[in-house]
Amino acid sequence: MNTMTSEKNSSTQMTTRMVESLNQVLADSYALLGLTHLAHWNVEGANFFGLHKAFEEQYQELFEAVDEIAERVRAIGGYAVGGLHRLASMAGIEEFTPPLAQKDYVAALVTAHEKLLQDAIQARETAGQVNDLESQDLMIGRITHHEKTLWMLKSFLK
Ligand SMILES: [Fe+2]
Repeated sequence: MNTMTSEKNSSTQMTTRMVESLNQVLADSYALLGLTHLAHWNVEGANFFGLHKAFEEQYQELFEAVDEIAERVRAIGGYAVGGLHRLASMAGIEEFTPPLAQKDYVAALVTAHEKLLQDAIQARETAGQVNDLESQDLMIGRITHHEKTLWMLKSFLK
């Protein structure tokens, strides 16, 4: 193999790794979006208005985020994953069935955010390794967002 071909192959492998990492975060984010929406619809009890509104802000933010992640996948030459069944099975995030107590919705969402956070950290590491600073920047933004949301959700559980 000549140098040009081997460089091309290694750059293709780097892109594939980056696409896989971003698609994992995309699937996690879509699964979390669905669960947050489910909690928004079905939450009930004394703190209804606060949680209903907080969940709404969270799923709206996630809706913007999945589009941005998917379009980053396309920008680096990959194809974005989609379809509810495929997204849910890739995410592997445990689903819940209402009705639940308020704290149980929040606790389930904490678990989902934490899983997503680990995959976003993994994607940030991959971006660093393949020197894709734009994907790294995107993942740093997502990590910052999920850490903040985790702080808020966990504060509710205290
Ligand atoms: Fe609504």
